[in-house]
Amino acid sequence: MTLSIWNDIDRQYRKVAKERAKKNTGKEPLVNASNVQFFRDVTGLEPTDYQQRFLTDENQFVVARWARQTGKSLTLSVLCLHTALSGPERAIAILAPSLRQGRMLIRRIAGFLPKLPRSWIDGRVLKTRLSFVNGSSIEAFPNSPETVRGLTLGLLIVDEANYIEDDKALYDAVVYALATTNGRFIATSTPGTRDSLFYEMCTNDEEYGDFSRHHVSFHDALEPKGPLKKTTVDRLKQQTREDPSRWDREMLAEFSSDEEAWLSYRLIDSCVDETLEYVPDLDKPAKEVKQE
Ligand SMILES: Nc1ncnc2c1ncn2[C@@H]1O[C@H](COP(=O)(O)OP(=O)(O)OP(=O)(O)O)[C@@H](O)[C@H]1O
Ligand SMILES: [Mg+2]
Repeated sequence: MTLSIWNDIDRQYRKVAKERAKKNTGKEPLVNASNVQFFRDVTGLEPTDYQQRFLTDENQFVVARWARQTGKSLTLSVLCLHTALSGPERAIAILAPSLRQGRMLIRRIAGFLPKLPRSWIDGRVLKTRLSFVNGSSIEAFPNSPETVRGLTLGLLIVDEANYIEDDKALYDAVVYALATTNGRFIATSTPGTRDSLFYEMCTNDEEYGDFSRHHVSFHDALEPKGPLKKTTVDRLKQQTREDPSRWDREMLAEFSSDEEAWLSYRLIDSCVDETLEYVPDLDKPAKEVKQE
């Protein structure tokens, strides 16, 4: 009989202690490590020099113009998760040219979760939203000014920023979300057109001189310095022989010169109809092709 009372008290005490621990996570950082160390912990990789420079940059506004496959999305994923776990009540929004791309970033972040205690996650892991017990959250939003207007954010992340349609309208709608929290704006992209806000952020000192800027060409990311393999780069060089401006954009991370082009890249891009399908064989009548 006495033993059972003590067991009850023990059980009750454990319950109270658990509740208290849960409440405390609202105040204490769940992660104390630096974001560079956290990168190592969750990816099992060594961050490159340029990734370390980017991660340790504490400027409020940061733009990173990096070559293809140099680790932009991976670095953003780590930065998002570290920001969410190293302080309470941090609302983080992800924007990308499409919601599908935003979701891919969420999936990448969710891929790190098995390395962390399950109790840190609040509720279910959703395709567009991750919530944590400290009140922080990471959410991917559709690329439209209406959906992001009125948010309050601690961090706004934009992946492939130079490929966002009407990026100026989106930025105008969302930048006030950072005003009351002193929140951060971080955009990464492979360069595209000069007819864009991303280009202005990277180059216009008068209006965006307070932005911290990072530029990484393939030279900085070749093995062993970074993840790019020389054989892949050689193959890409061969493939872009006919279109040197593509090489400049994707591998040197330099903006293509729209001034010299008859039509801007933005205009050409906006004329592409993604609903059209290729005809598999032009020599065969459409009906015949369909029956196959
Ligand atoms: N520090 C690193 N060490 C080893 N591999 C890395 C490192 N950083 C990134 N990678 C790897 O490089 C590849 C490209 O990464 P990621 O997709 O993040 O690049 P990206 O710049 O976003 O590419 P894209 O231009 O296609 O969007 C991935 O396989 C990733 O795991
Ligand atoms: Mg990417």
